[in-house]
Parts: sequence; C-alpha cells; structure tokens
Amino acid sequence: MTPIVPIAEFANHVGQEVTVRGWLYNKTGKGRLQFLQVRDGSGIAQCVIFEKDVAPEVFEAAKSITQESSLAVTGVVRQDDRAPGVPGGYELGVAALSIIQTAEPYPIQPKEHGVEFLEDNRHLWVRSSRQWAILRVRATLIKIIRDWLDGHGYLLVDTPIISANAGEESSTLFGLDFFGEQAYLAQTGQLYNEANIMSFGKVYCFGPTFRAEKSKTRRHLAEFWMVEPEMAFFDLDDLMAMEEQFVSSVIQTALTERRVELEYLERDTSRLQKITPPFPRISYDEALALLAEIRENTDDPEQKALLALEWGSDFGSPHETAIAESFEKPVFVYHYPTACKAFYMTPVAGRPEVCRSVDLLAPEGYGEITGGSERIHDLAILEERVKEIGIDPAAYNWYLDLRRYGTVPHAGFGLGVERLVAWVCGLPHVRETVPYARRMTRLYP
Ligand code: 4AD
Ligand code: MG
Repeated sequence: MTPIVPIAEFANHVGQEVTVRGWLYNKTGKGRLQFLQVRDGSGIAQCVIFEKDVAPEVFEAAKSITQESSLAVTGVVRQDDRAPGVPGGYELGVAALSIIQTAEPYPIQPKEHGVEFLEDNRHLWVRSSRQWAILRVRATLIKIIRDWLDGHGYLLVDTPIISANAGEESSTLFGLDFFGEQAYLAQTGQLYNEANIMSFGKVYCFGPTFRAEKSKTRRHLAEFWMVEPEMAFFDLDDLMAMEEQFVSSVIQTALTERRVELEYLERDTSRLQKITPPFPRISYDEALALLAEIRENTDDPEQKALLALEWGSDFGSPHETAIAESFEKPVFVYHYPTACKAFYMTPVAGRPEVCRSVDLLAPEGYGEITGGSERIHDLAILEERVKEIGIDPAAYNWYLDLRRYGTVPHAGFGLGVERLVAWVCGLPHVRETVPYARRMTRLYP
C-alpha cells in the first residue's frame, strides 16, 4: 500500500510513490496527456496522466471524469517549478486512478458567476480555491488570536449565548422564547466578562454574537464571531497599549503562517506589513476636525456631502474610511459622544457628554475593527444608565452586583473576526469571510 500523503506535504515526498484522495477540481487534456487538478483539502496539485503509462481503462476514465468527482490517484511526486497548484511546484505522475463517485454536472463552473448564485450554492462554493484560501486564513487568525491571549495571561471563559439582558442597543436584539420567558441571543459576552475578571483578572470570550441589524452593508452580519478581552484595573491608555500589541502581532503572524493563501488571493500585503505599534491616537473631536479639513480640500461635491457630520453623531462608513486613510497604520479614535455609544461606557470626568471609549479604525476602507471602553464601575451612575435601556432593570441585578462587591476600574474591547479576515485577505465584503454568512437577506443554505 502506498502512503496517503497530503498535497501540502508533497515537498517531503519527491521521488516517492504516494496516493492522494480528493476531488477533481479542473481538468485539461490534449491527446495522450490528461492534466487533472486534484484538491484534497490541504492543497491543489496537478496530476499528469500519460496514456502510455497507465492501463487503457484508466486513461479512458481520466478523459471522461467530471468536475468534482471524488477519486484517489497514485503516482510519483515530481518537482517541477512550472507545475500549477497550491502551493504549486510539485506534480504527480499518475500510475493508477480510481473514481469513488462520478459527480453529476457541477453547478459552479470554472468561470464567472453572480454572487447571488454563488451564495445560493455556498455549500458547494466553499470548495472553490478562493474560498478555501479565505477560510484557511480565518481559521489561522482565530488560532493566532487565542494563542496570543493564552500566552499573555488571559483566561478563556465562555459566556452564554442565551441571556435575559441586552449587552448593546436593544434595537438589534434577536428575541426568543425561553420556556415562556423573554430571552435574547447574545450581542456580546462583555457583561459576563466583567463578572469573570473579578475572579480571573484578565479574561476573554470568543464566540458567535448576534445582531438583528437591518443594514445591508459590506461590514455587517446578523451572526458574527467576536473575541472580547476584558481586563481588571485597566484604563483607556492601558487598553490602547494592549490592543496595538495584540492586533499587530496577530497580523504579522498571519502574514507568515498564511503566506501561500494570501499570495493565492493576490493580496498586496505591503500596508499590512507596516502594522507595528504604536498606532496613532486621536480624539473624536480631532477626528471631526480632520473630516472638516478633508471636506475643505476636496472638489468632489459628493464626497463633501458624504463626509458632513454633526458633533454627536456616530461615524458612518465613509467617515471611517476617510479618517483611516489619513494614516498609514490603524488609528485609535477615543472619547466618542456618550449618546452614540453603549450604556456601560464611563463618562469623562468633567465632560460627561463624551465617554472613555475607543474604536480602532483599519486602513484600506475596512473601518471599525474593534470597539471598546472603560466600564462604569460606580453603582449609582450605572443604575441610572441601566434604566435607559428599555429592558426590565431586574435583569441587570447581577451586573449591578459587580459594582457592589469590590468594584474596580476595568476596560475591554471586542474585535469582529469577519472584519479582520476581510481586512487581512483584502476582501470587499464580509460575506466571504465566514463559512455560512447570516445576513438580513441570507439564511440559506
Ligand atoms: O463595537 P461593538 O458593538 O462592541 C461590543 O459589542 C462590545 N461589547 C465589545 C467589548 O467591548 N467587549 O462590536 C465590536 C466589534 C466591532 O468593532 C466590529 O469589528 C464587530 O465587533 N462587529 C460586527 N461585525 C460584523 N457584523 C456586525 N453586525 C458587527 N457588529 C460589530
Ligand atoms: Mg462599535
């Protein structure tokens, strides 16, 4: 029996006979030669079938095999710099081929398809090499994030998905009937993180979060994954210092570990390579002044109108893009108006109309990548704010308890995995960054 070898490990098996099990990705043939592009999950390799090297029935099978048929091929691994594939540079000289199942005519052809069609066929689309590359970058980013946090004294503490209280704006809650009680899908694990830091000091949760967001933007999903670190005794400066180390390290590690996939995606990584601490920091007020300056310097009336913003409003995507494009690296914007942020953010002493919040805006049009703040740790102030949410304050009793028993200043943030993946891979839309996107207009498959 020849060993079954992943395509990704061909480099270690040059000159040896191996078996690859997988699917036919694409095929080209001319006369006595058939070139099968075979994918096995670890990569894509060209498998060359020469008529004179195989039994006649094997050559016939190779000629008629259909796209996405499942198969096993056996042959000798050869190094050839011209051989296409991922990683490429190696091919298989086929001696034997067995077809496991001959696929029916495959809906996704090696040509351009509309994105609606591809999304309808997401269960098949995940096999495309572009999607394969993106989802491998995603998995690696998640692992790097966890490794970094685990290695820096953060404890993973899981937070519930079903909850009686809201964590963010109540207008984006998905409600559900929990044995007759009103419950909601988690918008964030943060409130529970705040309980957990009082036991563990530095924690993070990492799970799916839900927002009934009626927006159809390139950046919003109804179900997205968020990593949320929370730290006792942290203030806003500590938070930014930690975030810039964390984000820089995650990106630099991903560029190394997923170089092949990013090359395959033709991602120009020059801007990403420059992401090292420190990141610039500007206040919301300074950001508004910057927007005013950008508007003054543009002759484009459309841009002028898009970038108009009154003090007190949150940034939209055009504002975030314009602000971020004024800097080489990601930029922190801190001290947002209290009214446009969540109820738990600490008001600035002597200027309660702004709060001790900070968003990190990514360059290249990717916008808000993280959102975080110092949390109100004073019981009386928090009691006031909880009343404004519009959900039974009794559901927050446990959260208020944290301010009754040894409250401390603390801070944390959330990073949206899909936006990070889109940014690292250079994708125009978050729908490709998650295996099965859930958006206002997308529930199938
Ligand atoms: O700014 P957000 O809403 O902050 C929170 O949920 C805080 N509780 C986090 C914390 O402090 N622990 O969301 C944080 C990040 C955003 O910066 C963005 O990257 C991502 O989560 N995000 C979304 N990603 C995709 N689709 C959506 N609808 C998203 N909403 C937020
Ligand atoms: Mg936010």
